[in-house]
Amino acid sequence: MTKKVAFITGAAQGIGKAIAHRLSNDGFAVAIADFNLEGAQAVAAEINETGRAIAVKVDVSDRDQVFAAVETTVAELGGLDVVVNNAGVGPTTPIETITPEQFEKVYAINVGSVYWGIQAAVKAFRDLGHGGKIINASSQAGQVGNPELALYGGTKFAIRGITQTAARDLADQGITVNAYCPGIVKTPMMMDIAHKVGQNAGKDDEWGMQQFAKDITLGRLSEPEDVAACVAYLAGPDSNYMTGQALIIDGGMVF
Ligand code: NAI
Repeated sequence: MTKKVAFITGAAQGIGKAIAHRLSNDGFAVAIADFNLEGAQAVAAEINETGRAIAVKVDVSDRDQVFAAVETTVAELGGLDVVVNNAGVGPTTPIETITPEQFEKVYAINVGSVYWGIQAAVKAFRDLGHGGKIINASSQAGQVGNPELALYGGTKFAIRGITQTAARDLADQGITVNAYCPGIVKTPMMMDIAHKVGQNAGKDDEWGMQQFAKDITLGRLSEPEDVAACVAYLAGPDSNYMTGQALIIDGGMVF
């Protein structure tokens, strides 16, 4: 039987890598799309021991590159069923110090990537003659305000809005669009923030990481696999009657 195909951005590490492994275990052929080609190739090699994966180099802020990466995926893996717009950057910036350069860069990567990923997915699904599932990375920071996250949080609120409107625009083409909202996940992105928090208090990274756990009802930080499990649900048939939703997977931070 032909495998279903998933294209996952930012999959060279962190949450995207966990999603790629999980979808592979669920029977998908996966494209590991990242601008870190070496990292993407390493993940693809791990997956190819048991499943089917390719590494694709892409800068998700560049529309042409996103279209090309999706086309490569269809050509090499023989189809496309799921697109996960996961790549993102998460700088902390006090609101008064945000610069035009930071604004342009962070919005181009976090929000531009979602527009271009959706457009490329829609074109591929249409060319293939079927619908599909689009899944976008929002965040706990896209649900409520957090200190020093006006720039990052703004992009994650935007992604929920784009998800809702795209769901309405694309339903008649058999395409569902949903988002996932992780809380505090143990990834390189979050380690960078923990390092800063720890350093400011004269403590180590682990101390910085544990400060985040205080706000989590379940009392522990999230593993990337916790998020991947929810994305697997959004990618699979059990969520066929869901669209326009933002699934919160944060150990109980926002409710
Ligand atoms: P990460 O920083 O560990 O990994 C991000 C990946 O995206 C890297 O492999 C990086 O090379 C890639 N990437 C970055 N910019 C890119 C670009 N322009 N083009 C192509 N690839 C690019 O991040 P993490 O923590 O795995 O986050 C993944 C997603 O989940 C992001 O959208 C993030 O905002 C979101 N998220 C993460 C949370 C966390 O606690 N780690 C919490 C809530 C949301």
